[in-house]
Formats: sequence, C-alpha cells, structure tokens
Amino acid sequence: MGIYEAVMEEITAFTGLSPAAFFTIAGMMVVVYRYVTGMFVSAEDYNKPPVVNSEFVSKYFDPATTTAPSSVQVVGDMTEQELRAYNGSDPSKPLLMAIKAQIYDVSSSRNFYGPGGPYAMFAGRDASRALALLSFKPQDINGNIEGLGPDELQILQDWEDKFVEKYVRVGQLVHDTDSEALPQPTQETQQI
Ligand code: HEM
Repeated sequence: MGIYEAVMEEITAFTGLSPAAFFTIAGMMVVVYRYVTGMFVSAEDYNKPPVVNSEFVSKYFDPATTTAPSSVQVVGDMTEQELRAYNGSDPSKPLLMAIKAQIYDVSSSRNFYGPGGPYAMFAGRDASRALALLSFKPQDINGNIEGLGPDELQILQDWEDKFVEKYVRVGQLVHDTDSEALPQPTQETQQI
C-alpha cells in the first residue's frame, strides 16, 4: 500500500470523515483563520508609522509644519474668466465660487457645486446676483449687484456670512482688462 492510501486510511480512521470531507473542512478552516487574522494588525505593523496620503496632506496641510491646516491652496486673485476653469470640470482643480468678488474654495461641498450637483451652475462664477435674487436664471449668475433692493442685498449678505463661516476665502476677482462687466468689490469686502 502506498503512502497516499495509508494517509487516507489514517484520516478516515482518526476523524471518521472521508478524505474529501476532511480536506474540505481543513481548507475552510484555513480560509476562516486567514480572514479573521487579517482583521487584526500584527504587533510589528502596529508600531510602524502611519501611512500618510501625501496628496491629501499637501492639499490640506501646510507642508512646512504639517500640523496646522493651511488655507487650502492659495489661489490668489484672478479674473472672472480665469475663475471659470474652477467649475469642477477639471477634478484636479479646487471648486471655486465667488460672492461679491470674493473667491471661496467650495470643494468641500462638491455634492452641491460639483458637476451634476444642484448648484453646479454657480461653480466657477461670481453668483452674487443669483443668490440675492434666489434665481437660477443664467442671466442672473454674475457679480452685478446693481439695482438690487435692500431685502435682496440682505439676502446676499446672509449668503456671504454663510460662506465666510463655512469656506476658506482664497482670493478675489480682479478686473479683466477685456471686460467691463466686473463689479467693484464693496468697501466691506475690500478690507479683508
Ligand atoms: C425649492 C427651493 C429650495 C430648496 C428646497 C433648497 C434646499 C436646499 C438644501 C436642503 C440645502 C442644503 C443645506 C445644507 O445642508 O446646508 C441647500 C443648499 C443651498 N441652496 Fe438651496 N434650496 C432651494 C432653493 C435655492 C435657491 C433659489 C438658491 C439660490 C439661487 C439656493 C442656493 C443654495 C446654495 C448656494 C446652497 C449651498 C450652500 C452651501 O454651500 O452650504 N437654493 N438648498
């Protein structure tokens, strides 16, 4: 009798199982063992420094200190035309939006302003007029606040307050030499 047959007979004698059943159960035990042990961190790995997603860190943290969050990416001043590039069509760029010529990084609300979002039409734009008028009309999505009444200006102020509190201001709109449509920043916003 060969070794193979002898081993099979021993397995059946010891376990009362057919060799096929024995190996099936043994295989399942190995799988379960590996699955369960995979849920735990080995002592060796536990002491390793954490793996850091450098892309995330460089976006949200100042590389000089890596402790304090920086003002996201300092985008700086730009024209209304340049702002359009930050409307979410390029996922590598932050999502920006302006109110009263002040530009905010609204990337954290990609669900609102990103492509397909309910307020995507405001991304990459100064949406002051639309927000003041609570309008989604394309002709209102601009920074022209001329002719707005006190109630509308108050609504716009409330939006600005919300944005100042919620988002990081990353720059302001500057005049495009080719365009005359840009509003002047108000006195209040000029102080920032
Ligand atoms: C049918 C009317 C509307 C409903 C039911 C509605 C509902 C909402 C809700 C539930 C949110 C999320 C609020 C949060 O989680 O902070 C929101 C956000 C927002 N809504 Fe509306 N909305 C309406 C009309 C408008 C209009 C007319 C405008 C402006 C033209 C507008 C502009 C915005 C903006 C800009 C945000 C995002 C604010 C942020 O960045 O936190 N909404 N809306």
